[in-house]
Amino acid sequence: MRILQVSAELFPLLKTGGLADVAGALPIALMAAGQDARVLLPGFPAILAGVRDQAPVAEFTAPWGQERFGMRAGRIAIDGAAPILAYVIDAPALYDRPGNPYEDTTREPYGDNHRRFALLGWAAAQLAQGLDPAWQPEVVHAHDWHAGLAPAYLHFAQRAGAPRVGSVFTVHNLAYQGLSAPWNFADLGLPAAAFHMNGLEYHGQVSFMKGGLCFADRLTTVSPTYAREIQTPEQGFGLDGLLRLRGDVLTGILNAVDDQVWNPATDAALVQGYHTPEGRHMAGKARCKAVLQHQLGLAERPEAPLFILVSRLTEQKGLHLVLGGLDTLLAEGGQLALLGSGEAWLEEAFRERAAAAPRSVSVTVGYNETLAHQFFGGGDVTLVPSLFEPCGLTQMYGLKYGSLPLVRRVGGLADTVVDCTLEDMASGDATGFVFDRFDAANYGRALRRAFALYQRAPDWRRVRGNAMRRPADWATAAEQYIAVYRQALESAGT
Ligand code: ADP
Ligand code: GLC
Repeated sequence: MRILQVSAELFPLLKTGGLADVAGALPIALMAAGQDARVLLPGFPAILAGVRDQAPVAEFTAPWGQERFGMRAGRIAIDGAAPILAYVIDAPALYDRPGNPYEDTTREPYGDNHRRFALLGWAAAQLAQGLDPAWQPEVVHAHDWHAGLAPAYLHFAQRAGAPRVGSVFTVHNLAYQGLSAPWNFADLGLPAAAFHMNGLEYHGQVSFMKGGLCFADRLTTVSPTYAREIQTPEQGFGLDGLLRLRGDVLTGILNAVDDQVWNPATDAALVQGYHTPEGRHMAGKARCKAVLQHQLGLAERPEAPLFILVSRLTEQKGLHLVLGGLDTLLAEGGQLALLGSGEAWLEEAFRERAAAAPRSVSVTVGYNETLAHQFFGGGDVTLVPSLFEPCGLTQMYGLKYGSLPLVRRVGGLADTVVDCTLEDMASGDATGFVFDRFDAANYGRALRRAFALYQRAPDWRRVRGNAMRRPADWATAAEQYIAVYRQALESAGT
């Protein structure tokens, strides 16, 4: 099957969160499963710089008319795997800007984001309609609101007689919907009928997320539990009614871990690698912890459980629970190391705590891929107490690196971590610490459970072994996506 993956980010070229990890790993897994997968990306500077052997493919006109942009094709080299073939939209006026892909340097969304990302969906539809005579996708797989218009363009093109192409839309996070003012609709090059409550219209605004949700042949999201949760008013972000209506074509497919990037046995960022056939060969982890404590200025105490947090600093991630529970964590003799960036008040609150107890609390504000690997390598517990979490990758990295996840039972966290109850410890299923209600008392109890287990070294080692052995390979997820692509192909345009 010829499959075009459409996303705004892709690791290792450009990453602001888990979307990039998925966009980088899935095409490789699809190719390994014998599929002909390619990717389409906006020409952000980091992407243009990272795609090799670029050649122009064709030019096309923007959906708002007049302006013309170039499509280029090249290769993204990946260690230990075949390169990913990539299409890149050459539009420096839209993409060559400071800040992150979505926001300017003051964290304000760019005012013309509707054009910047309409162009992404539009370019996908152009490719589906033969822009590159040498390769035409049979299925377009659009990720998150940034690519949400691709299914809408395909739908209306097919209604106007264009060849049938399957479309799949994946929700990575329903909280970000790509909303903009209604007058922007005129720029999108869609028929007026698309600005309707059964289309892009959302309480008078234009919603790119709805473009994907209404018009894709098949919908997926990144965990089975989140697939259920987003059909409820509590977690549906205003779209639960639509998601219930389309529930028969919605599947939850759990993200996985890219073994080439995240593997403690081979990770070049670690001072010493480690792995665990039955809990042995773990000396490297103790060294990683000692080096990390030293590097962060923490007291070099091997016996102090080191809690780590690698995260965007936003409300989603439940960080006020961590702030509220910090005194308990320190009183019990633990240490906290945080690596993250995001909302200023959270950065400030954590910085203050680090300044007050620099030997026990370390806060690194910023984005640092190498350091993230070292955190998982050196940590004992990975904190992910999210309010909501579509899938979450950091708890899976924590599992694989033996930094046991402490998570709330929500979304993909519920699907990937098993609490240390006596029965699940006895059966060898326990992999971490899970709490239910989003409040200080429940979080605090999970913290105390982590400390209690840490005191019982043989039990800790056993649970850590369970965690590190938990399978999380992309091959399994790729098979599930392939089944969804087949369904999309069968139903395309019907
Ligand atoms: P989300 O996509 O909601 O941010 P995920 O857990 O799915 O959450 O993915 C987060 C990804 O971003 C992980 O790969 C994590 O290691 C990475 N990450 C988050 N914050 C940082 C940071 N400050 N420095 C380096 N990597 C980070
Ligand atoms: C989103 C979600 C996160 C998920 C990631 C990749 O950013 O917040 O839970 O793991 O996408 O699917």
